[in-house]
Amino acid sequence: MGKNTTEIRYSQTLTEDVLDLLQAYDPNQQFLLCDTHTATHCLPTLMQSDQLQHIKVIRTQAGDAHKNVEALTEIWKFFSQNGATRKSILINLGGGMITDLGGFAAATFKRGMDCIHIPTTLLSAVDAAVGGKTGINFNGLKNEIGAFHMPKAVLIHTPFFKSLDAQNRQSGFAEMLKHGLLSDPEYLSSLLQLNLDTPETEAFQLAVKRSIDIKYEITTMDPTEKGIRKALNLGHTLGHAFESLSHEQHRPVLHGYAVAWGLIGELFLATKLCGFPVSTLHQMATYIVKEYGRFELSDSDEARIMEYMRHDKKNEGQEINFTLLSDVGTIRLDQFAQPQQLQDMLNYFRTCMQS
Ligand code: GLY
Repeated sequence: MGKNTTEIRYSQTLTEDVLDLLQAYDPNQQFLLCDTHTATHCLPTLMQSDQLQHIKVIRTQAGDAHKNVEALTEIWKFFSQNGATRKSILINLGGGMITDLGGFAAATFKRGMDCIHIPTTLLSAVDAAVGGKTGINFNGLKNEIGAFHMPKAVLIHTPFFKSLDAQNRQSGFAEMLKHGLLSDPEYLSSLLQLNLDTPETEAFQLAVKRSIDIKYEITTMDPTEKGIRKALNLGHTLGHAFESLSHEQHRPVLHGYAVAWGLIGELFLATKLCGFPVSTLHQMATYIVKEYGRFELSDSDEARIMEYMRHDKKNEGQEINFTLLSDVGTIRLDQFAQPQQLQDMLNYFRTCMQS
């Protein structure tokens, strides 16, 4: 396989697939990173196998607040003290925090070792684990330091998603809605009918696979986000602003909820700038309010939202960069709105939240 390709495996028998993938590596050079949460809930599934007992396990604190240079330093130290080399392999067992942090540790130690991601949340399976973005938060800024480093393989073990609570499933599902909007109306409408309470069903697993395929295809075409990968930012310019505001105001929301609400505003902009169908906007807004609830904004919050959007790291120069659509599956990159259109977007959003 080439440098920029990843094997995506759907694994029911996780230990067998891990053993198979590890065959290419010296047993003394096999490492696994997990957090305090996945050490309890997911690691035992792997460690059922006697043949995996030799793996050197690194545990870190769970939570995005620990995706930092201190945790990274601990991982580098562990590698040094345990004789890791450029030929080592690191398995990252966890959500996006672990695949980002472990992916970056693997990208940088001795200028890069291989890694395999085993995402344990729906959000990380359909987003963070695929496409090779790695990094840490720094100086109060999210993902400020990082590298593109494609994992050798991503192992999707859907039984891990059964133990997720409803909010975390709903959060991951927002990225799937985004994939539906970016790809085709049929997939989107199947998503709108999907029951998230039954992740064990074939329909759910097929939808997860479809989403991963969409993300994989886009990130393989443009691994370093020079062009089409920007499509994956749909819903995120406004969504990140909601997420940051929610943390600033001590009413934190999960990432996917912020993205879902961001989709409402950005699809509104798409109707104004790109001719996106108004009926689809209304259908999506109604669905999102029903499934994700409401995110209230006051007049003073609007100024903060504008500030956050102006400081989005995707912008170039003064203008706020959006990915929009002219229809489901028809992507318009690098769209810029006038101040009045941004105001109209927030007015529409607030109207939806009151309905
Ligand atoms: N999360 C968007 C990307 O991987 O490009």
